[in-house]
Amino acid sequence: MLSSPSILRPELAALNKYNSGLTLEDVARRYRRGPIAKLGSNENPYGVPQEVRDAMTMAVATPHLYPDPSGRRVAQEIAAQAGLETEQVILGNGSEDLLNVLARTVLRPGDEVVTLYPSFPLHEDYARMMGAEVRRVGLSADRRMDVDRLAEAVSRPVRLTIFSNPMNPTGLWLTSGDLDRILAAQHPDSVLCLDEAYLEYALGEDFLPGTLRIAQHDKPLLILRTFSKAHGLAGLRIGYGLSNDETLIRGMNLTRTPFNVNAVAQAGALASLRHPACMETAVRNVSTERARIARTLGDLGLEVFPSRANFLFVNGGRPSIEMAEALVDEGVVVKPWKQAGFETFFRVSVGRSWENTRFLDALRKILGCQESVGELPGSA
Ligand SMILES: Cc1ncc(COP(=O)(O)O)c(C=O)c1O
Repeated sequence: MLSSPSILRPELAALNKYNSGLTLEDVARRYRRGPIAKLGSNENPYGVPQEVRDAMTMAVATPHLYPDPSGRRVAQEIAAQAGLETEQVILGNGSEDLLNVLARTVLRPGDEVVTLYPSFPLHEDYARMMGAEVRRVGLSADRRMDVDRLAEAVSRPVRLTIFSNPMNPTGLWLTSGDLDRILAAQHPDSVLCLDEAYLEYALGEDFLPGTLRIAQHDKPLLILRTFSKAHGLAGLRIGYGLSNDETLIRGMNLTRTPFNVNAVAQAGALASLRHPACMETAVRNVSTERARIARTLGDLGLEVFPSRANFLFVNGGRPSIEMAEALVDEGVVVKPWKQAGFETFFRVSVGRSWENTRFLDALRKILGCQESVGELPGSA
């Protein structure tokens, strides 16, 4: 193949490929001793209800037809559930599509983008792709969200502030009170994008959906959600945005590709919104299992961040790539973190009970501890 570096925009030359994790096939080539615990991508391993399967099967029956370009039925359901107008909704081919569309809609070279650090890499990558400068707000000295510094950063006329709540990769979160402080501090000329990919796992008295703030907020706000996590539809690629700003939605609709969400994804998402019981059970399981894993990791003497998401951020005490490789040899996939300052951390998703037990047993083995930490693999 040819290689012609000069044809690339310089912003692209500086970017690294997104670390999308290992597939089951990648791991199966190295581990042949039984099922693999896939805990690197924060998926919902419990599957989807029959109603969702049926809806997708129906949609597959007409593959020759283009999908609805605006996903009107899904958008209507999303809007109705959020108490907003259908015109306030935009669908994406996964929420990562909307992150990309947002960057291409609002960012000019030299613009400033504020994000939290450590961060979801795409929040930074798409900004850099557009030639924007990324300003990171790190954690406080005691490894908590630094709400004061974030409030100060958003109060300046930056083009875009973007962060996830709960935060990926740490699992830390802003309470609704903290979020109100950030929204109040937001500069009127800047866009605030709140990525709620893990909202369903975090909901509680102190953590209300960000969409409740949309109706009253008087500065541009975009809230992103996805069907890839709690809804269990990562393979279909569908996410959505909700905004109080019609210019932002119009701009993003002009920027996105016209048929960005396929018909099967639209059908599955609509059915999932209408049949949430299965997802709610999965979310409860995650909460119980997350506590069990965190407790055991603590007993092993490892540093673990408190988390309101379906994953934990763990300091393995050695280079994370080395740790992740050793875990793959035990049939467990985690996500090694590579951002500066966090190279000994990995992110592990909360999976089914047997997967979590497999992970904890493998970790004990790697760290040189003998005992099994829970029930046997395959028991749930
Ligand atoms: C914070 C955050 N935002 C967005 C995404 C993208 O999700 P998807 O494109 O599958 O909707 C992810 C996926 O891991 C994520 O962690």
